[in-house]
Amino acid sequence: MKHLHMLLAAISVALFTFRFALLLTNPEKLKSKWLKISPHIIDTFLFVLGITMMIQYSLYPGQVEWMTEKLVAVAAYIFTGYYTLKLARNNTMRIIGYLGAMGWVILVARIAMTKQNFLF
Ligand code: HEM
Repeated sequence: MKHLHMLLAAISVALFTFRFALLLTNPEKLKSKWLKISPHIIDTFLFVLGITMMIQYSLYPGQVEWMTEKLVAVAAYIFTGYYTLKLARNNTMRIIGYLGAMGWVILVARIAMTKQNFLF
């Protein structure tokens, strides 16, 4: 289950990077159906597996500090990702948003692997 979760996380970041690159180079292609649907499917499975493991290993946010921090970092990654693809109004802002999102996702992976808080 953990390896599938990690694989889905990698695919999710790759799809985000691909959509970011298309937005800068060929935004028309972003309208294709598979690019609109597949991120939602991947991310739903990523979350379902994460929540399943959370329950299985009793790693509840609020009780297990690194889990709290991981979820805060996941939320920040989702927001910066949304900002990059939807809210940013020009390419400079999109690039800044993308770099910010990558910083958060690296933090998520670091917390998941070390099981130690990093920021708080
Ligand atoms: C961007 C999103 C995410 C990334 C990049 C990510 C990454 C990872 C990685 C790399 C591991 C394996 C750590 C290891 O080597 O042991 C892991 C494990 C785990 N993740 Fe995630 N994850 C993400 C989202 C989530 C979400 C949304 C949840 C919960 C709602 C979650 C819950 C868990 C749990 C419970 C484990 C198992 C921890 C353990 O080994 O005991 N993850 N995650």
